[in-house]
Amino acid sequence: MAGSTAPSLAAAAESLWSVVAPGWPGFSVEILPEIDSTNTELMRRARAGRTEPVLLVTERQTAGRGRMGRAWTSAPGDSLTFSIGVPLSPAGWAGLSLAVGVTLAEALEGYCGGVSAAPHIARTHIALKWPNDLWLRGAEPARKLSGILVETAGAATPDAPRYLVVGIGINLQAPPAQGLSTPPAGLRELVPGAQAGAVLHAVLPPLMDALRTFEQQGFGPWHERFAARDALHGQRVCLSDGREGEARGVNLQGELLVHTEAGLQVVNSAEVSVRPQGAAGSTGA
Ligand code: BTN
Repeated sequence: MAGSTAPSLAAAAESLWSVVAPGWPGFSVEILPEIDSTNTELMRRARAGRTEPVLLVTERQTAGRGRMGRAWTSAPGDSLTFSIGVPLSPAGWAGLSLAVGVTLAEALEGYCGGVSAAPHIARTHIALKWPNDLWLRGAEPARKLSGILVETAGAATPDAPRYLVVGIGINLQAPPAQGLSTPPAGLRELVPGAQAGAVLHAVLPPLMDALRTFEQQGFGPWHERFAARDALHGQRVCLSDGREGEARGVNLQGELLVHTEAGLQVVNSAEVSVRPQGAAGSTGA
């Protein structure tokens, strides 16, 4: 749904609650006009002992955060910014942000109907740049459409679930490109009237289902689906620690495999950032 028929954020939130709550007892939906960062807020609450399942959406973040200490900037009305907080007990956390990325890309493609409305983009395809960026493909160069920030807060006792916070920023309108080597993308290139409420409605239920599936089965169900969207596969890449090589997909832990002069290296997302060789800077918002 897009344009004037799209549900407002408030209407979407209400119907989302009734879809999600049966699978997540105690689930609540909160929409705030402004906050520093939805991730920061849910992490604050978790540290204060509030660990119930929640969706926190805001129209404006004053201190949005990206991975590796970067800022995430977004303009009200031109982006969808939200965080999901849930207590979760997976056997391990490896690959979670990739599973979220695949699920988000599939849901966004579903929202776009798989058909591009923009004449210069031949085919809607949302690729994943390891570990957690969504890139819009079809018109080269690929440009960043969305980013994911996964954080966890410790449990009160060793046996209790940790509290997971998954923060997602989606550009509806492409933000200004200043300072970036590649301009970012916006969903309205594909769906001109795309509104936050309709997009949230399309992506939240599959994301909540994905978290449950991940808890039970880990990254396995997403491994091949990630490979089908892997933007780095076969590309020369530079790692922020100086290593260079050719990206060779990810293993079952969601770690990036890079063939370097020293052989096949396994790269963990907590350690380094990675960019395709030749890209001078971040493609993020
Ligand atoms: C990245 O690309 O490095 C991750 C960006 C994540 C941005 C989202 S917006 C909602 C949530 N709150 C934040 O402060 N960050 C995430």
